[in-house]
Amino acid sequence: MARAVVAKAYGGPEVLQVVDVQVGPPGPGQVLLDVRAIGVNPSDWKQYSGVWGTDPDRLPLRLGHEVAGVVAAVGEDVEGITPGDEVIAYPVTGAYADRLLVRATSVLPKPAGRSWEKAAGLMVTGVTAFHALTATHVGAGDTVLVHGASGGVGSAVVQLAHARGARVLGTASPANHEHLEDLKAVPLAYGPGLEDRVRRAAPHGITAAIDCVGTAEAIETSLALVPDRQRIATVAGHAHATGTGIKLLGAGAGSDPGTEVRRRARAELLRQWDLHHLDVRIGATFHLADAARAHRVGRGGTVDGKIILLP
Ligand SMILES: NC(=O)c1ccc[n+]([C@@H]2O[C@H](COP(=O)([O-])OP(=O)(O)OC[C@H]3O[C@@H](n4cnc5c(N)ncnc54)[C@H](OP(=O)(O)O)[C@@H]3O)[C@@H](O)[C@H]2O)c1
Repeated sequence: MARAVVAKAYGGPEVLQVVDVQVGPPGPGQVLLDVRAIGVNPSDWKQYSGVWGTDPDRLPLRLGHEVAGVVAAVGEDVEGITPGDEVIAYPVTGAYADRLLVRATSVLPKPAGRSWEKAAGLMVTGVTAFHALTATHVGAGDTVLVHGASGGVGSAVVQLAHARGARVLGTASPANHEHLEDLKAVPLAYGPGLEDRVRRAAPHGITAAIDCVGTAEAIETSLALVPDRQRIATVAGHAHATGTGIKLLGAGAGSDPGTEVRRRARAELLRQWDLHHLDVRIGATFHLADAARAHRVGRGGTVDGKIILLP
C-alpha cells in the first residue's frame, strides 16, 4: 500500500486528496521506488484546473512527473538497477506518492551525495530547457534572450546556454536580478520598454530567444528582435505564438513534443549537474500531504525556485 495525492475533481487545489493506493510488486520492466522527494511543476495544477479539458472519465487524476528515491525492488528482467540504488525517475506518472512503480527505462542514477530535493526537481525543467536550446541551435557566439529567466525552466535555459558558450540576457522581476547575475546572465526587467532595454544591453543584436513565461510581450519582443523566426521558441506562449513561425515546444496541437531530444537530454543534465554547470534553486518544500498548499503557493508565484514535496 502507498499514500498518493490525487485530484478527485476538476477545480482548484481544494480538489486534491491523499488516498491509499495499491502498489504491487514490480512486473517485467518495472522498478519499485521508495520516494524521497517529488518535483512540483505548473503542469501539475494545470492538469486538474480544467484548462486542458474536464473529461470525467479521467478522474481521479494521479499527479506528478518527476521523483527521486531509493530502489526497493526490481522486476525479473531488469538489469543494471539494484535494490538500494539512489535514483531519479523521469518521466513518470503519479509521482505524488510515497511508493511508486516506474518503468526501468525512466530510471537514472542519482549522483552520489547530491540533494534529494534538487534531484527531484532537475528533470522536467531541464529537459524542457535542453529541448528549447536544441530547437533554436544555441551555441558559442550567440546572444540569447530568455523570457522568464528566473523560473524553473528559464534558469535551466540560462545555465545551459551559458555552458554552450552563449551570451545570455534574461527577464525577471527586480528581486531576481542578483540571482540572474549569479547565473552569468544580464538581468532585465520585463514590462513596458522591454524591447528598448534589450537593444541597449545587446547593441549587436539578439540571435535567438526562448520564451519561458508565455506573455504577449515575450512573443512580440522576440519577433521584433530576432531576425530568424526559426531561432525563437516558446514553451508556454502557444496561444500568442501560433501562426507566427515561432517554434512551439511541448504538448498541444501544432507543438513539437521533442520526445527523442528530451529522452537524450536526461544524461546530459546529469553530466552538467555533476560538473556544477547546472544547479536547481529550491524555493520551498512541503510534506506530500500538504500538496494543496504547495499548489496554492506555486500558483501565486510568490516562491522563487522549485517547490518540492517530501513524503
Ligand atoms: N512546453 C513544455 O514542455 C513545458 C515544460 C515545463 C514547463 N512549461 C511551462 O513553462 C512555464 C514556466 O514553467 P516554470 O516551471 O519555469 O515556472 P516557474 O518556475 O513558476 O517560473 C515562472 C517565472 O515566470 C516569471 N514571470 C512572471 N511573470 C512574468 C512576466 N510578465 N514576464 C516575464 N517573466 C515573468 C517569474 O519570474 P519573477 O518571479 O522574476 O517575476 C517566474 O520565475 C509554465 O507555463 C509551464 O507550464 C512548459
